[in-house]
Amino acid sequence: MSDPAGLTARIFFALWPDAALRARLLEAQGRLHDNFGGRRMRPDTLHLTLLFVGAWPCEGLDELVQRAGEIRFPPLGLSLNRAECWSHNRIVSLVATDTDPAIAGLVGELKSRVHALGGVCERRPFTPHVTLLRHAQCGEPAPAIVPIHWTAQEFVLVESRLSSRGPDYRTLARWSAE
Ligand code: 2AM
Repeated sequence: MSDPAGLTARIFFALWPDAALRARLLEAQGRLHDNFGGRRMRPDTLHLTLLFVGAWPCEGLDELVQRAGEIRFPPLGLSLNRAECWSHNRIVSLVATDTDPAIAGLVGELKSRVHALGGVCERRPFTPHVTLLRHAQCGEPAPAIVPIHWTAQEFVLVESRLSSRGPDYRTLARWSAE
């Protein structure tokens, strides 16, 4: 649980890479670390957030899982085709500027279900990205990268617990494409 009393969990929906894709992300992470320094995200934590929900009552998790499971979606294609270093939060990430419209559709469906259950979530526009480094020194323009194509066959609901070694993530539920 994410709060001291254990009444809420800090949750988000995400795409999680398989081993082959993770290896490619780690390769890019190494190269970008040479440019920007910073703290590397641990391999097992790499992901693309679809929707950050934040604190959610634990007693309401089952209902959210059930409602998310009603969504039908195809395999989700995207291309991580740009590296960026964001000076406002010192994150280095791979950004997908080229995504299947089905991804925005899925995010919209998730948002409306979260809202229907009384939740409030991210108002900022969805920026599909995989964070690779934190506390980076932005300054130089990011190098061009070889695009990484990703066809996600599933999405997941994850709980984030913050610890001294960074976030620990636990998969609560997963759903497959049709
Ligand atoms: P980030 O990698 O760009 O920080 C778990 O925290 C995931 O949810 C991360 O991928 C994080 O994105 C994303 N996220 C989106 N909005 C967030 C918020 N308001 N607080 C924390 N994490 C957020």
